[in-house]
Amino acid sequence: MDNDLNLFKIRQEYKLKELTKEELGDDPFIAFKLWLNEAIQSKESEPTAMSLATVSSHGQPSCRIVLLKEIKPDCICFFSNYNSKKGKELSENSKAALTFFWPLLERQIRIEGIIRKSDADISDIYFKSRPYESQIGAWASRQSELIPNRDYLVKQYQKYKKMYSNPDLIPRPSYWGGYQLKPHFFEFWQGRQGRLHDRITFDFKNSNWVIDLLAP
Ligand SMILES: Cc1cc2nc3c(=O)[nH]c(=O)nc-3n(C[C@H](O)[C@H](O)[C@H](O)COP(=O)(O)O)c2cc1C
Repeated sequence: MDNDLNLFKIRQEYKLKELTKEELGDDPFIAFKLWLNEAIQSKESEPTAMSLATVSSHGQPSCRIVLLKEIKPDCICFFSNYNSKKGKELSENSKAALTFFWPLLERQIRIEGIIRKSDADISDIYFKSRPYESQIGAWASRQSELIPNRDYLVKQYQKYKKMYSNPDLIPRPSYWGGYQLKPHFFEFWQGRQGRLHDRITFDFKNSNWVIDLLAP
C-alpha cells in the first residue's frame, strides 16, 4: 500500500446509465458506432483513443494507446510504424486486443481479433490527409528505436523537412501505414452502482454473433 498517495480512497461510483441487450441490438459494429458517437458528442477529450495490446513471440504482452481512424463493415483501423515494437509483435503474432474507456459515459468497450496491414492505397490516402508536420514526423522518427538524445531527433526532423520541402510531394514511408483489426469478440461495459456493472459480450461463433451477459 502506498500511504503517501492514499490510493485506497480514490473511488468513483457509477450511476449514470444501465445497459440492456435490447439497447445494443444484435450487431456489435452498429452498437460500437453508436457508443463511439455518444462518446464524441459527450466531449470526451480523446474519444477515439484506444489501448492496443499485442503479444511478442515469447508470449510477453505489451500495450499502448493508438487512435482509431476508421470503422469498416468488418474491421477497425488505425495507423502506425510497421517497424515499431507493436509492428514487430504483430508481424510475429497477429492476435491483438483493443480497449476504449469513456469515463464521462462510465463505459468501456473491449475488442479482440486478428490484425493485418491495410492495403497501400488506404495508407496513402490517410498519410496525405495528415498535417505536413506529422508527415515529416513519420520520416524523422524510427518509432521504438533507441536515440542518443532529443537533439538527434530534431536534426532528423530538419533533415527530412529540407528533403521534402514541398508539402504536396511527400511520399509515405514504406514502413508507415494502416492496420485493421477484424474482431471476433466485443464486450460492452456500463458502470453501475455498488460495482454491479452491466457487461454484454458478442462472440463470433459458427458465422453468428452470440450474445451473453457476464458477471461484473
Ligand atoms: C493519445 C495518444 C494517441 C496516440 N496515437 C498513436 C497512433 O495513432 N499511432 C501510433 O503509432 N502511436 C500512437 N501513440 C503513441 C503510442 O502510444 C506509442 O508510444 C507508440 O506507438 C510506440 O509504441 P510501441 O513502441 O509499443 O510500438 C499515441 C499515444 C497517445 C497517448
